[in-house]
Amino acid sequence: MLTEEQAARERHKLRIAVCVSGGGTNLQAVIDGILQGAITNAEIVRVISNNPKAYALERAKCSGIPSLCISPKSYADRGEFNRAFLKAVEEAQPDLIVLAGFLVVLPQEMIAAYRNRIINIHPSLIPSFCGKGYYGLKVHEKALERGVKLTGATVHFVDEGTDTGPIILQKAVEVEEGDTPEILQKRVMEQAEWVILPQAIDWIANGRVTVENGKCRVLKAGKERREL
Ligand code: GRF
Repeated sequence: MLTEEQAARERHKLRIAVCVSGGGTNLQAVIDGILQGAITNAEIVRVISNNPKAYALERAKCSGIPSLCISPKSYADRGEFNRAFLKAVEEAQPDLIVLAGFLVVLPQEMIAAYRNRIINIHPSLIPSFCGKGYYGLKVHEKALERGVKLTGATVHFVDEGTDTGPIILQKAVEVEEGDTPEILQKRVMEQAEWVILPQAIDWIANGRVTVENGKCRVLKAGKERREL
């Protein structure tokens, strides 16, 4: 028997749109998190890719999640692409947009329209190894070049800057002797990204994340503020 509050949440699950460009292992972690109950009160309503060859699209299909590709190559200019992309997002009526390895710079208009409702996963401990030019393997190459002993991953809200939005959750991962960028990338994904992205989404879906003065606070379970 559901309590009244549980029943209300069931009626209004957090609607998530996931934006992807590549392999989609983070998307898979979110799909699995929902299936296995690590993420509650949430559903993925649409997956959007800018890359027609992204394996993430296959993952969405296998899980029965509606997906579509909006490729910049199909549009005359950036403005047209941005409008089509925004339309694809709006149609899904998301409560939360998750950038899971999405390599497109978001239109400013979208960032303003979805303030504190867009999250990104970045494969380092922000503010290290982030900002313009730090994406994919480059992040891990730079971490190894600098010789850091700890790296990790960060989930943060998206604002107008590159990797500058309020930090929700971070997890550290050790760098080991003999690491290559590829080996380190795999360890960071397994030990950090696939853990903290589902965790952050569960907190948001359950009203536990607030943003005050550019900083996130995570409320204890039972002190949720999400409006149903
Ligand atoms: C991840 O390393 C993520 O942190 C970064 O892009 C990569 C995406 O991998 N933003 P996948 O497509 O989720 O497998």
